Amino acid sequence: MATSNTNAAPRDNWGSKLGFVMAAAGSAVGLGNIWKFPYTAGENGGGAFIVIYLAFVIFIGFSVMLTEFAVGRKTGRSAVGAFKSTDGRWTFVGVIGVLSGLLIMGFYPVVGGWALAYVQKVSTGLLSNPEAIGDSFGGFITNPIQPLMWMGVYLLMNIIIVSRGISGGIEKAGKVLMPILFLILIIVSVKGLSLPGAMAGVEFLFSPDFSKVDSGVVLAALGQAFFSLSLGMGCMITYGSYLKKKENLVQTTGMVTAMDTGVAILAGIAMFPAMFALGMEPAAGPGLVFVVVPQLFAEMGGVGLIFALLFFVGLTVAALTSSVSLLEVVVSYLIDEKGMKRTTAVLSAAAVMAVLCIFASLSLGGVGPTLFDTGAFDIFDLLTDKIFLAVGGMLVCIFAGWRLSREELEKEITNDGEVKFPLFGLWYNLVKFVIPVAVAIVAFAGISSGFDSGKGPIMLMGIGIIALTGLLSKKL
Ligand code: PHE
Repeated sequence: MATSNTNAAPRDNWGSKLGFVMAAAGSAVGLGNIWKFPYTAGENGGGAFIVIYLAFVIFIGFSVMLTEFAVGRKTGRSAVGAFKSTDGRWTFVGVIGVLSGLLIMGFYPVVGGWALAYVQKVSTGLLSNPEAIGDSFGGFITNPIQPLMWMGVYLLMNIIIVSRGISGGIEKAGKVLMPILFLILIIVSVKGLSLPGAMAGVEFLFSPDFSKVDSGVVLAALGQAFFSLSLGMGCMITYGSYLKKKENLVQTTGMVTAMDTGVAILAGIAMFPAMFALGMEPAAGPGLVFVVVPQLFAEMGGVGLIFALLFFVGLTVAALTSSVSLLEVVVSYLIDEKGMKRTTAVLSAAAVMAVLCIFASLSLGGVGPTLFDTGAFDIFDLLTDKIFLAVGGMLVCIFAGWRLSREELEKEITNDGEVKFPLFGLWYNLVKFVIPVAVAIVAFAGISSGFDSGKGPIMLMGIGIIALTGLLSKKL
């Protein structure tokens, strides 16, 4: 039993250490790495964004993940319960996490549905007409009906997996398909790098031009780091609550962070050289993977077809192992705090998500309500990626640094002194002082600069929602 709570039912434990690392990595590695990272890097100037992103992963992401694992394992509770069981005034941090989970699941399944649709499109001849690949993507995602059907199928897969409890088939599928996806990314990279003109893409990625960096770019890098590592919303707290007392938290955190970052960088290397060679714009936006990868494989003939199929199957599975963790955060809240049965919890959460996804998907075709000229898809993305996750991560740090004691944390992280963590002091000071201040500065500056691009009001709204949740915390 991984918990010392007297009133909690015994929690399942992860079968093996590798099982846990793979599950946490499964949550981390997803659309964030392969779909979002390349296009966000592209929109934010490339190399300089990547340098800042890496710095955030190392100094902030690693520390926040370790904090979440420690809080989760220490309390043996999921997102909301972890805070509530320690101090009711902090419950709202968990609730913001649940809200983030709902909102991310308000657009993630739309993109997951695209990945699924591309498995079908590739097998029915998409690659035979390379010139049409770009237009076909644009036509597809702005279509009011088709993407919704795929989203529905994708969401249904999530429902089935999460209804059955955490592990099982999806973990096994992940274990096989993740390494395959990784290999395919390497193949795509090699192919892309071999094209004439590819070097411009390498340069775009790796020779940073800091003159293009403004506070918006810095906030984008911070948000991307939290999103990609699944931080700031209690997901890793929930996973940590299932972790055995003897597991080495520091090492686990290192492995998950390294895998996640490795896949993101590899996805960048797979996309950019090819894009430059194919004469596409680096700021092409969310269509990047769905256009570049099929175009590259189209040039390879028969094997290209197989690689493309494996790529989109792998992408779908990577997305699934992430979205089930998002759904699980909401579901375990409904089960633990609202006393629902698992099936009811899954269905209610998924129903809300489906509605949000319908708005998100339609908004890409210009249909549906907008707020400050921004459609639902972008609103959900902006609120979560730029505000909720970063502020959520900051609050977890403040909670650990100021509400828990240094001794408690040291005992938890070193397994009562058995595991050596020479950098404990550094980690502790980062969590207690540096990260809260750094996130506050980046968020503040990013929001101010967002007023030029029209995104500021929505981000500010996010801060308002957090403040309101905090004020209502007694009732949650
Ligand atoms: N990290 C996941 C990805 O990169 C997304 C995610 C965010 C999952 C937050 C859980 C929590 O696709």
